[in-house]
Amino acid sequence: MDFSIAVLTDADVPAVLALCREALDVPEDAAEAEQIVSRLREQPGVGFVAIADGTLAGVLLGSISHRDSSVGHIDLVAVRPDARRHGIARALVGRAEGALAGKGAAEVLLAGNPPYYAWPGIDVRYTPAICAAIALGYEQDRTAWNMTADLSYEKSPALRPTEAAEERLAAAGVTVRRAVPDDIDALAGFARANFNDGWAGEITHSVGREGAGCFFATRGDEVLGFAAYGSSRPSWFGPMGTAPAAQGLGIGGVLLRRCLREQHAAGLSHTQIGWVGPVPFYATAAGARIERVFFLYQKNL
Ligand SMILES: CC(C)(COP(=O)(O)OP(=O)(O)OC[C@H]1O[C@@H](n2cnc3c(N)ncnc32)[C@H](O)[C@@H]1OP(=O)(O)O)[C@@H](O)C(=O)NCCC(=O)NCCS
Repeated sequence: MDFSIAVLTDADVPAVLALCREALDVPEDAAEAEQIVSRLREQPGVGFVAIADGTLAGVLLGSISHRDSSVGHIDLVAVRPDARRHGIARALVGRAEGALAGKGAAEVLLAGNPPYYAWPGIDVRYTPAICAAIALGYEQDRTAWNMTADLSYEKSPALRPTEAAEERLAAAGVTVRRAVPDDIDALAGFARANFNDGWAGEITHSVGREGAGCFFATRGDEVLGFAAYGSSRPSWFGPMGTAPAAQGLGIGGVLLRRCLREQHAAGLSHTQIGWVGPVPFYATAAGARIERVFFLYQKNL
């Protein structure tokens, strides 16, 4: 199959979305193709398309790490099912590696680049992508997973009421409320001081936007913790964090379930807690179970 590689332009986007809906065979990824592509394209980066017989046959989006300018990321690669095994992904990845090297990358990760990411790495069910990563010289260096919380029935542990816990917190001087745009600076500052810039970016993208949100806890003027949803993906929850000194008061469980209840009210039957850390916390606080598993890859250029 003859094909050529070109730089992605805005005019390609409708065809890119159609291709992603066809190529991403995990249904929730196909369903969120539009949000995935638009979020990834909000960051400066590289984009290439493969054209075969005058039609779009493949797409790749990449970026430079928001934490380390010597690290490149491939954020999305997809090839039309009928155009596979003709070297299109190989050619797209090769072009992207060259472009990322030109921007200063000494290595490339097949891994999420927070706060702009659609997956932590390659979902293991995209087995051809795992095979391609290995064939293209990438090595698996980490594993990540999401947990799924069931929002489909009122008695779900993910939807347990928070009122009694909030009263206990109030008696200890802790207030919980939904974040509004005026809260973003304080919350982003809290995330940067206690966690990382990526989380600050995800909070900023969650507050005041349709289909997303953030709750936080304060004592006086002091922020003690936050929980956000809908930034990386409309159906995903996270990040969340409680200041080390305020852990153990029950703040995290309340903030988590306030978010999950809103996602339920918005009509979601399930939410994915993305790129999880504390499995026992989410298992206990929301009855969540590990579901999506991702392999993360690295290659030195
Ligand atoms: C992963 C994907 C992009 C590969 O695209 P492609 O154009 O078919 O890949 P290439 O033809 O360039 O393959 C390069 C090498 O990868 C390996 N490979 C690719 N698909 C493979 C498969 N199904 N089985 C085994 N090896 C495979 C081979 O070694 C191949 O080289 P070879 O054909 O000379 O043996 C494509 O399968 C796809 O779009 N999948 C769905 C989207 C996806 O999974 N994206 C990642 C989401 S996290």
